[in-house]
Amino acid sequence: MTARLPMHDRVVLVTGGGSGIGRAIAMLAVQQGARVAIADALADRADATAAALCRGGGQAIAVTLDVRDSAACDAAVARIEAELGPIDGMVASAGVSPPSPAASMSDEIWSRCIDINLTGLFRSVRPVGQRMLARGRGAIVTIASVDGLGGHAARAHYTASKHGVIGLTRSLAIEWGRHGVRVNAIAPGVVDTPLLKANIPADHLRHAMVDRVPMGRLSRADEQAGPALFLLSDAASYVNGSVLTVDGGTSAGYFTRWNGADLGSQALFDSGVYGEPE
Ligand SMILES: NC(=O)c1ccc[n+]([C@@H]2O[C@H](COP(=O)([O-])OP(=O)(O)OC[C@H]3O[C@@H](n4cnc5c(N)ncnc54)[C@H](O)[C@@H]3O)[C@@H](O)[C@H]2O)c1
Repeated sequence: MTARLPMHDRVVLVTGGGSGIGRAIAMLAVQQGARVAIADALADRADATAAALCRGGGQAIAVTLDVRDSAACDAAVARIEAELGPIDGMVASAGVSPPSPAASMSDEIWSRCIDINLTGLFRSVRPVGQRMLARGRGAIVTIASVDGLGGHAARAHYTASKHGVIGLTRSLAIEWGRHGVRVNAIAPGVVDTPLLKANIPADHLRHAMVDRVPMGRLSRADEQAGPALFLLSDAASYVNGSVLTVDGGTSAGYFTRWNGADLGSQALFDSGVYGEPE
């Protein structure tokens, strides 16, 4: 990653920062000079990430936080500002994606996904937004998904939560933009993280997902970090309410490959399946 997005002396909070995309964003933010708070429900992940960043010469603190808990979110934000200073940027990456067929989905599975991915995102962003509004400056990036732009079998709860994240992001952008607080989303495609591997079998990943990605491969977590940091940075000073797809082209069109069948391949033209050119 060679992005140059100066974050010198900025304070950045990353929820879900103990793993995957959030961790990669926190690492890039520190490399660019930010002081970072890693908030994660799993204390060991938050601690390990913050410790790794400090060992590398950066300034980072770990906060154990369940984003579903409003009071804990308020307290965490107060603590982060007391220890690191006013929060300039926030990335809301905490999320879960357990597969479940819609017809047999339990109330518990539905509610947990919505509570963490959507309600929890709102509860963690709200106290940060309040403080940014009072100061008249700040930038927030929510981690949505291409599943916020279309459906996905066995992910009704997840797609509903991510469509909600995009609606929430746009509404906050409209409410807060004129007060100096920008709110944008990134919509990752298939990203090589523990969440992906835990929830999608390797065969399915290869045949049903990677095959359909126009770039023909998974995203590395660090490839999500540059776009997220861009949206946090002054380079995006007039970007507000946007949803930036970071998906290798997955959402660019419908008629992509399946099991290697490439509609644009020379072999199909040579075999005459398209008939004689007029
Ligand atoms: N990996 C992908 O392919 C992909 C694609 C699109 C969007 N996303 C989104 O990106 C975000 C990060 O996903 P990832 O792939 O890095 O997953 P990950 O599992 O590697 O990281 C998610 C982190 O969120 C934390 N978390 C979970 N519930 C929490 C809670 N209630 N409070 C606080 N922290 C909590 C986990 O402990 C974990 O450390 C999620 O919102 C996910 O939906 C991921």
